[in-house]
Parts: sequence; structure tokens; C-alpha cells
Amino acid sequence: MTTNILVESKDRVLRIEIARLDKKNALTQDMYRAMSQALAAADADAQVRAILIHGTKDCFTSGNDLKDFLNRDPHAGPAASFDFISGLPKVAKPLIAAVGGSAVGVGTTMLLHCDLVYAAPGARFQMPFVPLGLVPEAASSLLLPMIAGYQRAAELLMLGQPFSAEKALAAGFVTEIVPGEKLLEHARAAAAAVAALPPASVRLTKQLMKRQHGQAIASQMAEESSVFAERLQSGEAKEAMTAFFEKRKPDFSRF
Ligand code: COA
Repeated sequence: MTTNILVESKDRVLRIEIARLDKKNALTQDMYRAMSQALAAADADAQVRAILIHGTKDCFTSGNDLKDFLNRDPHAGPAASFDFISGLPKVAKPLIAAVGGSAVGVGTTMLLHCDLVYAAPGARFQMPFVPLGLVPEAASSLLLPMIAGYQRAAELLMLGQPFSAEKALAAGFVTEIVPGEKLLEHARAAAAAVAALPPASVRLTKQLMKRQHGQAIASQMAEESSVFAERLQSGEAKEAMTAFFEKRKPDFSRF
């Protein structure tokens, strides 16, 4: 079990903390595995009524570890990251996120599956799939146009540039912007409030809101994941990621 994911179950709330500070909370396969296990444990435990996920004050997560992307064996089976992503829409208990600082890649797309999302004014969201030579994942190519409207989603997914908490609020996937120093406390209070409600009623309400799109989300994830796997092997993606680690601008002129 990785030490970069801290899990605590207390007062009917299961808290998942992403803690890999030296790499801006970049997610390794072990970290995805630990988060999937925590989500499954939360769903299986009748005492758990809500799940809270957060990073540090300055960083939610910088997304998938780019070294892991670069070194991925194309012939290996489904990655733990895919298990995590495809498990998100199936989580039965309310999922609450507190986002301070950077939320890159899956750091943003996982929020599309959360029920309550609180962000600090300094939160910086980004889905840099296209700049990395990749394509969107976690059904974001379906959910973001649905939540934000097509043109707003197209700007965020096609240009892949960082954007503010205000823009995320306007796009519709942030519930509320909360002062940074109160962020975790506020998200904890929301989790406690949900945890105090009648559990079956909460669970059924979530189920009712989600049921219409369940099939479409699973099918979009499968399609995204197959294109994503191809793109990971592309020269464009290799150039983009190598450039990141070499701390230089990528050059796509030869493609
Ligand atoms: N994968 C692997 N390592 C990462 C990483 C990632 N996703 N994000 C950051 N790191 C590492 C950096 O390589 C650096 O390591 P080093 O100290 O050994 O050089 C360290 O974390 C600090 O990152 P740095 O870029 O210096 O921090 P910053 O505060 O200037 O910027 C980010 C923070 C999150 C904006 C920036 O790191 C970033 O854009 N990361 C890549 C995000 C990304 O593309 N994720 C994949 C999405 S699909």
C-alpha cells in the first residue's frame, strides 16, 4: 500500500488525502489502486455515509504521473488508473471534493463525477490532454459538454489551458468557491451534513440523478480509453511529455 494516499474513516466520513508533495501529488498506479480500494471500502461499509477527497492546501493533484505515461507498456492490461476512473460513476455514496491549488488532468475530470465540489479562489484547473498529444478521459468528453455547454467545454478541452475557480464555477462543476483557509473545514462540514441525513434517501437520490447517463458514461470511457492508449504511443505525446521533464517547450512542427 502506498503512503501517498492517506485514508481515514471517522464520524461516518471516509477521507481520502492525496499526499505526494514533492511531485505535486502526481498519481502513480499504486496511488490509483489505493484510492479505488478506499472507495470500494467506503461503499461496502454501512457506517460510512460520505466520502471526502482532497489534496494539500496548494495542490489537489497534478494528475497522472507523466513518467508513468511515458513508461507504460502498451501490451499490459487495463491500468489501475482506468479501474479508478471507471469506478467513479459507480460510487454509491456521496463524493465530496475540496480543491486547493492545481487540479490537472484527472484532477479536474474526476470532479465531474463528484456530488459536491468546493474550490479555493486560488485553485487552478486544467485538462491538458490535447497539449500532451492525448485525448480526454474519465468521460469528460461527454460530461463536460453536458455540464458546461459545448463551446465552453470545447475551449477547456481543445485548448487545454489552465483556468480559474470562477471559470470552473461558471462551467458548472464547482459547487462553491470557499476561502482557502476555510476550504477543508467547509468540505468536512458538508460531508458531516450529508452523513447526518437519512442514508438510504441520500443514496437513492444520487442513484436517481445518475441513472440516465450510466450506460453512456461507461461507453464513452471505453471509447476514450482505447483512443487514449493509442495516443500514448504517438510521437506527439512522447515529444510533449519529454519536453515537460526537460523543462522546455514542446515542438510539434515535424508532425
Ligand atoms: N507527473 C510527474 N511528475 C510531476 C507531475 C506529473 N504529472 N507534475 C509535477 N511533477 C513533478 C515535476 O517534474 C517536478 O519534479 P522535480 O522537482 O523532480 O523537477 C515537481 O513535480 C514539481 O513540479 P513543478 O512543475 O516544478 O511545479 P510547479 O508548481 O511549477 O507546477 C504544475 C505545478 C502542476 C502546474 C506542473 O507541475 C504541471 O503542469 N505538471 C504536469 C501536469 C500534467 O500534465 N499532468 C498530466 C495530465 S493528463
